[in-house]
Amino acid sequence: MVALPQTQDQPRVVLSARGLGKDFGGFTAVNDVNIDVHHARIHALIGPNGAGKTTVFNLLTKFLQPTRGQITLLDTDITRMKPDYVARMGLVRSFQISAVFPHLTVLENVRVALQRPNRLSTQFWLPLSSLDRLNERADRLIRDLGLAEFRDLRATDLSYGRKRVLEIATTLALDPKVLLLDEPMAGMGQEDVRMVANIIRDVARDRAVLMVEHNLSVVADICDHVTVLQRGEIIAEGDYASVSRDPRVRTAYMGTEE
Ligand SMILES: Nc1ncnc2c1ncn2[C@@H]1O[C@H](COP(=O)(O)OP(=O)(O)O)[C@@H](O)[C@H]1O
Ligand SMILES: [Mg+2]
Repeated sequence: MVALPQTQDQPRVVLSARGLGKDFGGFTAVNDVNIDVHHARIHALIGPNGAGKTTVFNLLTKFLQPTRGQITLLDTDITRMKPDYVARMGLVRSFQISAVFPHLTVLENVRVALQRPNRLSTQFWLPLSSLDRLNERADRLIRDLGLAEFRDLRATDLSYGRKRVLEIATTLALDPKVLLLDEPMAGMGQEDVRMVANIIRDVARDRAVLMVEHNLSVVADICDHVTVLQRGEIIAEGDYASVSRDPRVRTAYMGTEE
C-alpha cells in the first residue's frame, strides 16, 4: 500500500521517561516506569489509589527528584533540572504557575498570565503596540476556551467548572508543549466534566497532554493512550478498550478477577 502524504508531522515523542523510580525511605513508590508522551495526543495515567500516579506526575514535572531513571523533554535530558526551568522549556502543569486571582475578572486573569515573563529570555520593556497584541491574544484565548460571555466576571463568581477552565487558560498563556493535569475533573458535576473534557480535547490538537484521571468514562472518551499503574509499576498500556479488557487491570480495580 502506498503511504499517503502526511499533512501533519508524525506524532512525535515530546516527553519520555526510562526506568523511572522513586523511593521514600525504604519504600519504593515508583519502579521502572517507561512512558512516552506524544505531541497532539492525550495520554492518561490511571490506577487504583496509592498506585503512584501523583508521584510519577511529580517526577515528570520535576517537583520530585527521581531515585532512578531518566526523563527527556524535547530531546533534552531534564532529569536533574528544576521545575521552573522545565516549565519555561514548555512542560507545564496546571496550578503550577497559574494561580487564578479570585477578585480579578476573567480577562484580567488571562492578561496577567500573558504578561508573565515565561520565556528563557526575559522581556524588559513592552512597546505600546504589544499591548494591543496582548489584548488580542487574551481575547482569542478566552474565546477559544468558551469564556467569552464571562470575560468581565470576577473569577470568584464563576462556576466551579469554569474556574478550572480559567486555570487551564492561564496555563495555556505560557504556550506549553506538554500540559500535565492531575485529576482535572475532580469534584465536578456531569455538565462541567463534559465541558472540561471538550476543552482538553481542543487543547491537545497542537500540544501533548498527560493527565491523571479517576473518571474512566472521560478516559475512554478523550484519551488516545492509557498507562495503568499498580503498586508503582506499569501493569498495562494501550488504548482504553484494550487496557480495560486486560485481566490484570480488572483485578487491580476490582480486587478480584471477573
Ligand atoms: N512523600 C511521601 N513519603 C512517603 N510515602 C509517600 C510519599 N508520597 C507518596 N507516598 C506513597 O507512595 C505511594 C504512591 O502514592 P501516590 O503517588 O500519591 O499514589 P496515587 O496518586 O496513585 O494515589 C503511596 O503508598 C503513598 O503512601
Ligand atoms: Mg494521586
